[in-house]
Amino acid sequence: MLPLIKVFFMAQIIGISGSLRTGSFNTALLRAAGSLMPDEAELAIESISGIPLYNFDIESAAGIPDAVRKLQDRLEHCDGLLISTPEYNNSIPGVLKNAIDWLSRPADEIDRVFGGLPVALMGATPGAFGTTLSQAAWLPVMRTLGTELWSGGRLMLPKAGNAFDSDGNLVDEALRERLSRFLRGFVEFVDQD
Ligand code: FNR
Repeated sequence: MLPLIKVFFMAQIIGISGSLRTGSFNTALLRAAGSLMPDEAELAIESISGIPLYNFDIESAAGIPDAVRKLQDRLEHCDGLLISTPEYNNSIPGVLKNAIDWLSRPADEIDRVFGGLPVALMGATPGAFGTTLSQAAWLPVMRTLGTELWSGGRLMLPKAGNAFDSDGNLVDEALRERLSRFLRGFVEFVDQD
């Protein structure tokens, strides 16, 4: 009889928040996700705060900024990307779109950085509709980049101020359960990839 060999796979997920502000609900949601990840996965939160405004003049004169290059390399070597997106004017927040645009440069890097990358979207807002329109607006971007968007679960957090305490801890028990289920679904998707 052959010995049973169990290979343990620890999925490495990168988390990116689409907000730069210190008290961001989206960053708090991402931190909560880090503490609720299934045992077989780890979440590393990366910041987009060092990424300049995209300008082709910068790209052609100085190349890809270090902050962009480092994040491109992190994305190439991770197993999945979890985005927590605010909604601005019923659409994508500019700072995160700017970061994704830089990460897609030069265009022949798109496949290395994003091709086949499992991606999950979630979002938080103090508003009533939970980032529905922002999340929908990301879909064509993710398709254009060739990611493998996970659509097996959705996580919209409306009225986000009620879900966190003043230190940004997620105190809404029902939401913790929903977030855990969402993360389990995404990690199963990543594991099958
Ligand atoms: C907003 N906000 C917002 N909220 C929403 O649910 N739908 C929307 O269309 C908008 N539009 C919008 C435009 C602009 C320019 C700003 C600055 C804000 C409110 C937004 O959800 C709120 O500021 C969140 O707190 C942003 O996310 P973080 O920073 O908490 O992660």
